[in-house]
Amino acid sequence: MSELANYIKQDITGLEPVEALRSLAEQFPGEVVFSTSFGWEDQVITHMIFTNDLPIKVFTLETGRIFPETYYVWNRTMEMYGKPIFAYYPNHSLVEAMVNQKGPSSFYESVENRKECCGIRKIEPLKRALTGNKCWVTGIRADQSANRQHMDNLEWDEVNNILKYHPIYSWTLDDVKAYIKKYNVPYNTLHDRGFPSIGCQPCTRAVQEGEDFRAGRWWWEDQSKKECGLHAVK
Ligand code: ADX
Ligand code: SF4
Repeated sequence: MSELANYIKQDITGLEPVEALRSLAEQFPGEVVFSTSFGWEDQVITHMIFTNDLPIKVFTLETGRIFPETYYVWNRTMEMYGKPIFAYYPNHSLVEAMVNQKGPSSFYESVENRKECCGIRKIEPLKRALTGNKCWVTGIRADQSANRQHMDNLEWDEVNNILKYHPIYSWTLDDVKAYIKKYNVPYNTLHDRGFPSIGCQPCTRAVQEGEDFRAGRWWWEDQSKKECGLHAVK
């Protein structure tokens, strides 16, 4: 199916993100979805989708462990644009079984436990969110981490059997900040406090100047294991 990615790639090459998103939404009507964690990259894309009335469903994976600041920006975004953002929650039986057996903070105890928690709180809901769709849009940028530098802005996701498009893949963080400022886009105030990437509260912390973008995620783990499984690492 990477032929499909190659074919679509020809179509969108050279287009600005909004036009590329529009083109994808026309080619796959009702089958393009965008996942937001309410980080500033995602807020840029949300702004593009909502202000241009693009027929792309915006959804978030509500793990049950996100920051108060994230709820705040979620709410503000819905109020400001007057558009829906769909929440996918974990399966309550799976969460209850895990927490009853291992407690609420099992993820600190082993990589296995952490992956179990991400599996229940993120991956299973993600599968439901992607079901029946043809294209998944994300806010990934190349310079976010070493792992992300060798991807493509449009790729075939073999794990989820779906086209994956990263509209601001080549943007720098300065480009993101400039866009937020120019269009007065609401953003998560944790970014002003040293959080480059914002995930679940117990698993995310601020990074120091010059530290790797992902140093604040699952900081107690070995560097090589630090992806949650939402995005397969090549
Ligand atoms: S992760 O791999 O660490 O979880 P990261 O925070 O870098 O991901 O975000 C990369 C992209 O994954 C975001 O731009 C967004 O599209 C998607 N994403 C991450 N977390 C969530 C979430 N909780 N809900 C929806 N999408 C998410
Ligand atoms: Fe669980 Fe932490 Fe993964 Fe969130 S990031 S799903 S709290 S292990």
